[in-house]
Amino acid sequence: MALDRKPAPNDLNAFWMPFTSNRQFKQNPRMFVSAKDMHYTTSEGRQVLDGTAGLWCCNAGHCRPLITEAIQKQAAELDYAPAFQMGHPIAFELANRLIDISPKGMEHVFYTNSGSESVETALKIAIAYHRARGEGTRTRLIGRERGYHGVNFGGISVGGIVNNRKFFGTLLAGVDHLPHTHLPAQNSFTKGQPEHGANLADDLERIVALHGADTIAAVIVEPMAGSTGVLLPPKGYLEKLRAITKKHGILLIFDEVITGFGRLGSAFAAQHFDVLPDMMTTAKGLTNGVIPMGAVITTGAVHDAFMTGPEHMIELFHGYTYSGNPIAAAAAIATLDTYKQEGLFERAAELAPYWEDALHSLKGTRNVIDIRNMGLIGAVELKPIAGEPTKRAFSAFLKAYEKGILIRTTGDIIAMSPPLIISKGEIDRLIGTLKEVLDTLH
Ligand SMILES: Cc1ncc(COP(=O)(O)O)c(C=O)c1O
Repeated sequence: MALDRKPAPNDLNAFWMPFTSNRQFKQNPRMFVSAKDMHYTTSEGRQVLDGTAGLWCCNAGHCRPLITEAIQKQAAELDYAPAFQMGHPIAFELANRLIDISPKGMEHVFYTNSGSESVETALKIAIAYHRARGEGTRTRLIGRERGYHGVNFGGISVGGIVNNRKFFGTLLAGVDHLPHTHLPAQNSFTKGQPEHGANLADDLERIVALHGADTIAAVIVEPMAGSTGVLLPPKGYLEKLRAITKKHGILLIFDEVITGFGRLGSAFAAQHFDVLPDMMTTAKGLTNGVIPMGAVITTGAVHDAFMTGPEHMIELFHGYTYSGNPIAAAAAIATLDTYKQEGLFERAAELAPYWEDALHSLKGTRNVIDIRNMGLIGAVELKPIAGEPTKRAFSAFLKAYEKGILIRTTGDIIAMSPPLIISKGEIDRLIGTLKEVLDTLH
């Protein structure tokens, strides 16, 4: 018998909501009760255009039939099977499918349940990799200012967002940070990759000189930083980072949790920028956001370094109860099928110029101080209200929701990343409504 779940409960107290101003939200809640393709339906029955693919994850739009059916079928056939010392075929099939769309050189997949877990997994693999090769002094991890790598201890240690760090004690020892690449004075209103800032990668040489290359395990960066407000890599920056890490025997990890699965018009940002890291962390679009799942994708060399001891020995003492969960794996395969059948990565690439023009048409709108874009992602940065940072953008978010569009804000930056199925007409509606909202804001 179906459970009787009320769409709009009248007691909101028990659920301690993540990354939410709980007290404010619960006074005036915003509830979605269903979704289809590009739209959410609210508990009052209003349609809201999804300008953010949920949380950068529903790249194929909502309630897509292949994915829904695959989940239903798998739940009835093999609901759960352990992945420690046991296998089930669908997890192997998915790993091969992921390698098929990954850059050449990527050969192995380690499953997790989220972006945060993918990051922890990649950082642990990096340290253990060096140890397995007899370089156990390489334990240091290098992240970047304004980086977002999820919320677990490794991720917030290498991450660079102050509020995600400062409340949580001393974090991991032995972590350093590269400077961020956001240079508004030189690069504001750039369409696509900015011209200035490739030299910021040279800071890695300073960190190497300070600590010694033989203490450094890995550098982790988002090839394009999403959650911190869509910060694009300057032209030549990622290439430099790759050259310097390679020169010093340091692994390079691309956190592709947002950029993976078509956001920039190719399967991964590594392909878009033509820079091959040693590992890629993924989640979100892997299952279209429908079921929690993440994956770390590694080169053959990273994996093979572990395959040396006696064959009866476990090579990597790491894994999750739900690594490669059958229902998640089925959802992921159906998601990849949907992307492929509908050509969604190519569609994102084709729509990118239209998206860019629409977004940059907001230049000159009140309080807009920068616009950035790439693929089907974009940010509009607002001038903060003096003494009240974040307030102007949050007001825009609330007004936008009232007017029927879902956007995201971080600080005073509005970020948008619609499902890759968005039409040109819907892009016009999203940007047109945002303009109306900004015009009415003080
Ligand atoms: C680049 C990046 N890494 C990691 C994460 C964390 O993913 P999750 O929220 O699934 O743990 C995110 C989430 O936005 C992300 O953008």
